[in-house]
Amino acid sequence: MAKKILLSGIQPTGAPHVGNYFGMMKQVIDLQNEYETYGMIVNYHALTTISNKTELEENTKNVVLDFLAIGADPEKMILFKQSDVPEHVELTWIFNCLVTMPWLSRAHAFKDKTDKGIEASVGLFDYPVLMAADILLYDTEVVPVGEDQRQHVEMAREIARKFNANYGDTFAEPKEMIKAEVAIVPGTDGQKMSKSYGNTIPLFGTDEEIQKAVMSIVTDSGTDIPANVYAIHKLFKTEADLAPIYEENKGKYKALKDALLADILAFVTPMRERREYYVNNPDLVAEILRKGSEKANAKASAKMQDVRKKVGLD
Ligand code: TYM
Repeated sequence: MAKKILLSGIQPTGAPHVGNYFGMMKQVIDLQNEYETYGMIVNYHALTTISNKTELEENTKNVVLDFLAIGADPEKMILFKQSDVPEHVELTWIFNCLVTMPWLSRAHAFKDKTDKGIEASVGLFDYPVLMAADILLYDTEVVPVGEDQRQHVEMAREIARKFNANYGDTFAEPKEMIKAEVAIVPGTDGQKMSKSYGNTIPLFGTDEEIQKAVMSIVTDSGTDIPANVYAIHKLFKTEADLAPIYEENKGKYKALKDALLADILAFVTPMRERREYYVNNPDLVAEILRKGSEKANAKASAKMQDVRKKVGLD
């Protein structure tokens, strides 16, 4: 029986953090055996915030290494750069002509930025349409994401429905896969961990960077158990394993942070080793990406051929 199709993406806008890892990346790795899996570095999306060539190239390279380091198996999943499949942009244009501006202005991500006074480029406004193209091009059925991406997947579903109603059945309707326990991973201040809030713990930071982030966790809760430390700690250890540690160290915030730091470092050590291996084998990484883009292209170009026929562009 054919496997179900799973796809997700991450923007190369900086170093992936613990929220990205538990909210999305880990799900993709855990499911790569079970699904036909696509893991994508969405560099077209990153252009909405990065306008420096070197920064975009470096970030892209690093996120590829991070994905391999956490266990992406190129024999099992298709790892590729979005820009290696230009059909994403072509399909975006076709969708652009199907959706309306008032509909698109409902997107939270765009509203959050403009509310903060950030002037939105046309690309930022159109972000959800490009994301819909990413998802629909591959007949994706499940999209593992964090809670902040729920609306975008819903919008992809609405676009699929609208296209199908107008041109005939073409696209599968995707469903978001959001794990309740990690839907909103909290940062060092207890708010959602996010690069834009400056409250992240970098997954592949140096010991010092991770230590600095852990020590900065806000602990003014005035209770035996510092809530913000515990919330992050339970990502790395079961609550049963944490119980004696937190019992022994009631109110000792520094000791609890030290325990969390030790657990994060133990967790990332084997990943760092794998990352080093790929850093030292750039030809292998290039080959993995080449093969990934070849497979993604085959799927996307067949789909686009069908779309072109359906809309009258063939
Ligand atoms: P991005 O790059 O902002 O984030 C990547 C993934 O990490 C999740 N995430 C979190 N999950 C839980 N808790 C957090 N604190 C947290 N912070 C980030 C995000 O929900 C996301 O799943 N628009 C997407 C990228 C994208 C995409 C796609 C995703 C483009 N095309 C197609 C799926 C399918 C984004 O900006 O993710």
